Amino acid sequence: MDARPNDLAAFWMPFTANRQFKAAPRLLVAAEGMHYTSHDGRQVLDGTAGLCCVNAGHAHPSIVDAIQKQAKQLDFAPTFQMGHPLAFELANAATAIAPPSLNRIFYTNSGSEAVDTALKMALAYHRARGEGARTRLIGRARGYHGVGFGGISVGGIAGNRKAFGTMLGGVDHLSHTHAPEHQAFTRGQPEWGAHLADELEKLVALHDASTIAAVIVEPLAGSTGVLVPPKGYLEKLRAICSKHGILLIFDEVITGFGRLGTAFGVDAFGVTPDLMTVAKGITNGAVPMGAVYSSQAVHDAIVDAGPEGAIEFAHGYTYSGHPLACAAGLATLQVYRDESLFENAARMAKPLEDAAHALKGLPNVIDVRNYGLVGAVELAPRDGKVGARAYEVFVRCYEAGVLTRQTGDTIAISPPLIINEQQIGQLFDTLASAIKVTK
Ligand SMILES: Cc1ncc(COP(=O)(O)O)c(C=O)c1O
Repeated sequence: MDARPNDLAAFWMPFTANRQFKAAPRLLVAAEGMHYTSHDGRQVLDGTAGLCCVNAGHAHPSIVDAIQKQAKQLDFAPTFQMGHPLAFELANAATAIAPPSLNRIFYTNSGSEAVDTALKMALAYHRARGEGARTRLIGRARGYHGVGFGGISVGGIAGNRKAFGTMLGGVDHLSHTHAPEHQAFTRGQPEWGAHLADELEKLVALHDASTIAAVIVEPLAGSTGVLVPPKGYLEKLRAICSKHGILLIFDEVITGFGRLGTAFGVDAFGVTPDLMTVAKGITNGAVPMGAVYSSQAVHDAIVDAGPEGAIEFAHGYTYSGHPLACAAGLATLQVYRDESLFENAARMAKPLEDAAHALKGLPNVIDVRNYGLVGAVELAPRDGKVGARAYEVFVRCYEAGVLTRQTGDTIAISPPLIINEQQIGQLFDTLASAIKVTK
């Protein structure tokens, strides 16, 4: 199998232990459906939908076709003071599957950009309404909101910001909701933890609501090891935000587009934010795209505030609403609908839950968590070497033909929504075997 280029030095790889990887590289050279092909010619079952983005499976013919046709028809068109029809069509199709109150959409190219855009919208919204003192942004420990300066500031992963100096001022954090002593081996939403949302009242008392613009959380935190929201927690956050005029932002970059067996986390948990960030599954990962869904109230406050003829929101990206991304997005939404993939995700949630929890009792397994088509198996860390044990398990799984994702000492599973029961079996059997032989 061709694995050019075989000099790996020049590519400075993202979120990768570069020296470790380049000493023993893992290269993927093709993909179809549920499988990657590795450079040494093996079929590898994709247990992570790439990076939680390939929800409809790899190289879906109608998505491939749409991108190819679009590249010929209209390769690029600006969306600054110009437009092209697909950008509007996708906006209509994407808002049609969202909660009715989130009926406006702004395009970005990634989840990180969507987060920074949503934070800017929150600031602009308050300013447009004459509440410009509302500049404080509140995130949550163990939150991941991408890598922009806004996203790492509200994010709660210390390692992601310790090298970069001063971040946004005026940021505070809620505690995360993960408490293994109360929640270990919970199936679905933990009973314990709703009260942690009351911390927001404490932050309001400390800073005063008149200084707080927005709260941002992932409804289900993915990148820091699959933290499922306790029952009642999101509802409380919503109520406290509404009470104090604070905007609630859900970062649905992972949970959007079927991952939880519903279109969005909003639908799974029955709580609707004012702004919602998405990316990944909007185009099935085939062309980079992100977006912010906005309530009409936020949109109108900003768009109706300025004088006629003035640009109301001085923000956007050269590639906002790129034609190839729009074509991929439209085809992707069609595939989700035609093939009932969100429904399949909901059907496969229980088999995934059972397969994941069957790993309880294996050596070093200290927790199993799941919701929808997301599962996590947490291992006890080795003394002084956080992540080392899980990394070995991840490599063993890959060598045995299954791609998982390691985050800290957690192995996270988030397969394409097309997965079947037999593949779920293969995935967790392989994981179990790898855990058993890892000291
Ligand atoms: C919740 C969340 N927000 C934002 C991001 C950043 O997205 P991107 O890598 O497309 O910038 C991610 C990526 O995994 C994510 O999980």
